Amino acid sequence: MNARFPQVRPRRLRRTEAMRRMVAGTRPHPADLILPVFVKEGIVEPQPVASMPGVVQHTRESLRKAAHEAAEAGVGGIMLFGIPAHKDARGSAADDPDGIVQVALRDIAGEVGDSLVVMTDTCLDEYTDHGHCGLLTDTGEVDNDATLERYAAAAVAQAAAGAQMVAPSGMMDGQVAAIRAALDANGFADIPIMAYSAKYASAFYGPFRDAAECAPQFGDRAAYQQDPAGPVGEALREVRLDLAEGADAVMVKPALAYLDVLRQVRDLVDVPVAAYQVSGEYAMVEAAAANGWIDRERIIMESLVAIRRAGADLILTYWATEVARRLS
Ligand code: PBG
Repeated sequence: MNARFPQVRPRRLRRTEAMRRMVAGTRPHPADLILPVFVKEGIVEPQPVASMPGVVQHTRESLRKAAHEAAEAGVGGIMLFGIPAHKDARGSAADDPDGIVQVALRDIAGEVGDSLVVMTDTCLDEYTDHGHCGLLTDTGEVDNDATLERYAAAAVAQAAAGAQMVAPSGMMDGQVAAIRAALDANGFADIPIMAYSAKYASAFYGPFRDAAECAPQFGDRAAYQQDPAGPVGEALREVRLDLAEGADAVMVKPALAYLDVLRQVRDLVDVPVAAYQVSGEYAMVEAAAANGWIDRERIIMESLVAIRRAGADLILTYWATEVARRLS
């Protein structure tokens, strides 16, 4: 034995493509991916979102096509965000049976059937003229308990229009319990809830607010979304509360900057854990790639592998259809 040379050589398992493929521990699958989509009322052509190259605000017609393509690529689910033609203080369009998301849900049902899970974001920020996620008090604070009734009504309207899963994202205390009770009372006991449980007040949502036209008109969301610098236990507490209130799946958001939180949530719970690769994560990669500074395809895959490896069972990503095609 020659002591100058190592006998233990981790590189043996890396030498060939076949070897690496065989030992790979993390394999993203199309069915793990959820495609977030925006549908806008009253437009006749899809509108590009400047800060999210490749993402559009859909017309009803182009959304049907996008849903069909996602299903065909084997994507696991699609998450709808609606932009109504008219916004008001209480977000009336959120639970209007003829509101844009409800109409779009009925459109898609015929298009995709059961080939992917049709989900809705349940919140008010896309529907309120002030852009906050809830109703406001006279002093301009978000009124937690009054907002719960609006979320409950929106979730019921979404389920009635064909949503197969609802995803409350507003970070109001008690929102999962309120929605669960309302769904159950209205004949939707079978509709699961994916809770945006650990959702941070993040600058990574910037481009989304262009896409969904929902930037707060004053202030920010720091009084209801979590502080990025807050204790990780705060995220775990939110997750535990949501599970106690009946959440069927939980989410950590954003993804890449919060992989430590994701891992701890994964280790805590026994329900599916989702991570949302948000608009800012998407925009940074697209911008750098457009400049020729990074290898776009490899960065996308590497980031999805990282999110999976940190513990996500499901990943919401604007690249879902593209990646699903590449994987299969
Ligand atoms: C709230 C909601 C937001 C996102 C998803 N749901 C915006 C916010 O909280 O400000 C952000 C998603 C993204 O940035 O891609 N309805």
